Amino acid sequence: MFDNKIKNICCIGAGYVGGPTMAVFANHCPYIKITVTDINESRINAWNDSDTSNLPIYEPGLDTLISLYRNKNLFFTTNIKESISNADLIFLSVNTPTKTKGIGAGKASDLKWIEASARQIAKFSKGHTIVVEKSTLPVRTAKTIENILSESQEIDNNEEKKTFSVLSNPEFLSEGNAINDLEKPDRVLIGGEDKYAMNSLVDLYLNWVPKEKIILTNIWSSELSKLTANAFLAQRISSINAISALCEATGADIKQVSKAIGMDSRIGNKFLFPGPGFGGSCFQKDILNLVYLCEYYNLHEVAAYWEEVVNINNWQKDRIFKLIVLKLFGTVFGKKLAIFGFSFKANTNDTRNSASIKICRNLIDEGAILSIYDPKVDNNQIEKDLNLSLNETSSREKMLWSRANSIQSAVEDCHAVIILTEWEEFKNISWTKLIKKMKRPAWIFDTRSVVDVLKAEQAGFNIWQIGNYTS
Ligand code: NAD
Ligand code: UGA
Repeated sequence: MFDNKIKNICCIGAGYVGGPTMAVFANHCPYIKITVTDINESRINAWNDSDTSNLPIYEPGLDTLISLYRNKNLFFTTNIKESISNADLIFLSVNTPTKTKGIGAGKASDLKWIEASARQIAKFSKGHTIVVEKSTLPVRTAKTIENILSESQEIDNNEEKKTFSVLSNPEFLSEGNAINDLEKPDRVLIGGEDKYAMNSLVDLYLNWVPKEKIILTNIWSSELSKLTANAFLAQRISSINAISALCEATGADIKQVSKAIGMDSRIGNKFLFPGPGFGGSCFQKDILNLVYLCEYYNLHEVAAYWEEVVNINNWQKDRIFKLIVLKLFGTVFGKKLAIFGFSFKANTNDTRNSASIKICRNLIDEGAILSIYDPKVDNNQIEKDLNLSLNETSSREKMLWSRANSIQSAVEDCHAVIILTEWEEFKNISWTKLIKKMKRPAWIFDTRSVVDVLKAEQAGFNIWQIGNYTS
């Protein structure tokens, strides 16, 4: 369907949301010029790199869309002024991490990038502009944006008065599956008051999303629904992770338990995979934001309830680290360990808040020497996350960690393989071949349930698998 109202879209923020989302819009709205803009010049350069294997983010299917639409109806630029002044509709897709300092530190979202973007819009926009919150934001942020827009605009004498409509349109994509999620969303949520602006956004989505999947709400419900959806999803993972520990203690098998409960249609079978603790840039930040909101409104019991989801998640990472040390005779000092997977989940190069970071850092602090293999995460990222340069050595002049280029080279002289991400290639490993390169006794710690336990045991491994009873 051809939309004839919106002609120019600008997206502020060329990250994991802005890039893929606008690529899918470009795919379905060929008559609209879409400009993605960012203050990060190297990121924009990477989006414009003619070799699509150098795009700043890895997401299956994204490179094809970029090749098809870049410089046709999809543009990446650092020219924020021009992108804003040409736009009828602007998506705000900037980062909203947890505040590290000041009021609400450790819980509240840091809105400084949202505020800076709103001020840029107030300054550079022309005529009427629809401003759409794509970033995940605390309830009532739209009001703040409206205030900034209406009070900080600079109007030239010969310019018509600027006007704005602010909408909330949270994004529900999950990384590694972003293109599919954007192409076939479970729902599109649009919150607002201005019916004309809401209809303009609905018209855009109707180019590929069935009408019945588009939900219209008031703006606060929309903002709160996003935080609540992430809180519920994370709560499911913390629940199954908590039960995984009980399975290990009792002889129940978490796969059997997941299957049995997931067949209850009221519970459903998705998001019941235990793991080393959820990671990613959003679950923890959004729950903490929810906790902060509850505390602000004096709902302390509600705040404590949701905070426990994060506490259990941290406990899961910690208990896995400790049990690895325990099983390796109580010490990993000087032992080489192979880490399979550093990203927070498969099919992404994103490591933000990955369980691997905490587990690896704890193992290094215990004296282990890590050989890390991940198909998509590079040295620089690991260096940054571990806060340890690649060349840093222990007191015995051994490198604390190195990055391996393959599964095979990673395990050389290792005492154990620790699987932290469920990459496809970890599912069909020939353990018989691998064990020959390792020290004995050789261990597998499988935090993602990807290993065929019987085959690993037949190859001669000791294996610990999450949610599985081991004596
Ligand atoms: P990101 O850090 O990958 O990207 C944000 C980008 O915004 C950065 O490149 C940054 O340079 C840019 N930016 C910041 N301030 C700017 C400014 N004033 N002008 C221009 N550019 C600016 O973040 P992300 O993962 O894409 O997340 C963005 C938002 O979407 C967050 O609120 C997040 O909670 C939400 N969200 C993320 C996901 C996800 O899977 N990553 C999914 C749904 C929602
Ligand atoms: C999550 C939500 O799924 C998206 O709907 C939301 O838009 C997004 O957060 C966001 O707001 O940023 P994402 O973090 O990309 O998406 O990935 P998920 O698939 O939700 O996985 C999050 C973490 O939970 C990963 O570490 C993953 O390994 C873990 N997980 C997930 C499990 O341990 N078990 C599961 O069953 C599912």
